[in-house]
Amino acid sequence: MELLYEGKAKRIYKTDNPNEVICEFKDSLTAFNGEKASQEAGKGALNCAITTLIFEALEKEGIPTHLIKQIDETKQLVKKVEIIPIEVVVRNIAAGSLAKRLGLKEGEKLPFTIVEFYYKNDDLNDPLINDDHAMILNLVDNRKELDLLRDYGRKVNDFLTKFFDKVGLILVDFKIEFGKDENGNIILADEITPDSCRLWDKKTGQKLDKDLFRFNLGDIKEAYTEVLNRLKEVK
Ligand code: C5P
Repeated sequence: MELLYEGKAKRIYKTDNPNEVICEFKDSLTAFNGEKASQEAGKGALNCAITTLIFEALEKEGIPTHLIKQIDETKQLVKKVEIIPIEVVVRNIAAGSLAKRLGLKEGEKLPFTIVEFYYKNDDLNDPLINDDHAMILNLVDNRKELDLLRDYGRKVNDFLTKFFDKVGLILVDFKIEFGKDENGNIILADEITPDSCRLWDKKTGQKLDKDLFRFNLGDIKEAYTEVLNRLKEVK
């Protein structure tokens, strides 16, 4: 297969169809913009399965995604999109960079859900941006597209909060990415996994996400397997 692109967590390969590509989930783990890096055998397969399960559920909710189908343990056939270089972060509870930036206590429930945009740019360390910044950087074509990203972010959050709650998990925050398909439609792309979400056990408060790796708090594979097994129960 011809490799089109390799990122920190995924490889993208060409297919015979110009509008479709293969997305492979890698076993690599990175944090703090690649400063901390490691490998975890089997993580790619876990994240591939978790994303497939969630994207299929989101499609049923009317949220368009790039997923066509999962083709093996670590690979999905997906629609080819041009990724919009904006990370859409949705937060329900204070944690991570929000807690640090605003001096909030980790675990504090926010009075309402917030949506943030970050400019996807490794050289700049993915800075927090507002709508004006996105416009002057030409990250989208118009402000309506930014409203759509926010709207999809909230819809994904509304659905996922309930989805995870059913299996005893609290969705603290998450990051999603979008792309434009061949018709210019904005659709959900990339992944939704414990690498890109904060998930806490409802009863014990135990973290079941990448913070385990970021702060050496425990075993990633065990936690991600637990998330996948619980999500399989909802299906
Ligand atoms: O680090 P921060 O608190 O801003 O992260 C918010 C959420 O977005 C977390 O769930 C984190 O895992 C996710 N995120 C991500 N990729 C990034 C930045 C944040 O998946 N580059």
